[in-house]
Amino acid sequence: MKYEVVIPAAGQGKRMGAGRNKLFIEVDNKPIIVHTLLVFEQDPLCQGILLAINPDDRSELTGLLKAYQIKKVTALVDGGRERQQSVHNALKQAQASIVMVHDGARPFIQQPTILELAQQAHKMGGAVAAVPVKDTIKKIRDGFVEETIERASLWLIQTPQAFRLSIIMKAYEEAQKAGFEGTDDASLVEHIGEKVQVVEADYDNIKLTTKEDLIFAEAILAKRRKYGQ
Ligand code: CTP
Ligand code: MG
Repeated sequence: MKYEVVIPAAGQGKRMGAGRNKLFIEVDNKPIIVHTLLVFEQDPLCQGILLAINPDDRSELTGLLKAYQIKKVTALVDGGRERQQSVHNALKQAQASIVMVHDGARPFIQQPTILELAQQAHKMGGAVAAVPVKDTIKKIRDGFVEETIERASLWLIQTPQAFRLSIIMKAYEEAQKAGFEGTDDASLVEHIGEKVQVVEADYDNIKLTTKEDLIFAEAILAKRRKYGQ
């Protein structure tokens, strides 16, 4: 199942505290965003990469695309203040019947998950990568436990999130009209009453958010070097 991918990369990486967009931090001698882009560059099913960027990062990013011979980026659009706006700006350039959205800050996504998501999106309309929660989750109010939520029904939602183009476009347009802000792409699709399938992904598909995630990143790469993918 062929697809296009929207990669939001226009954040500031405030929680990483590096004083610049965290996606330029190198792990294993390559900027985080390059790791992410290369996964899609090397996937024969990926027809194009629509990258949302901060205008201040444009020249550094175009330099990286050249240096790493990344040729599938078909649009470099300016992002917005929130991730939702960045994704929406890039989505407007989408053409393929299946589009997935994947965080620039998740460099460890692998092809089997991508393939499964594209297939499920084609069949069901929408699909998200997720893993079962390992810890017990409780709802807290004023410092006291209000409720323990049954763990079997709880999943941690990641990206990629894949959709039929018509559905995701409608979801973003409706959200804009209604002033609805979601914390992920699927929540906008849920908001218009469409179903979203869950695809079990890997625990190592982490989002590099804070400093300690860089240590986990090195560990994931060391594991892959030792045991293969
Ligand atoms: N992103 C974006 N546009 C924004 C905000 C975020 O394209 N206005 C992107 C980030 O570049 C990242 C992804 O969305 O690839 C997930 O966001 P997050 O991990 O929160 O990154 P940042 O927003 O950069 O980090 P922080 O929230 O700590 O500032
Ligand atoms: Mg953010």
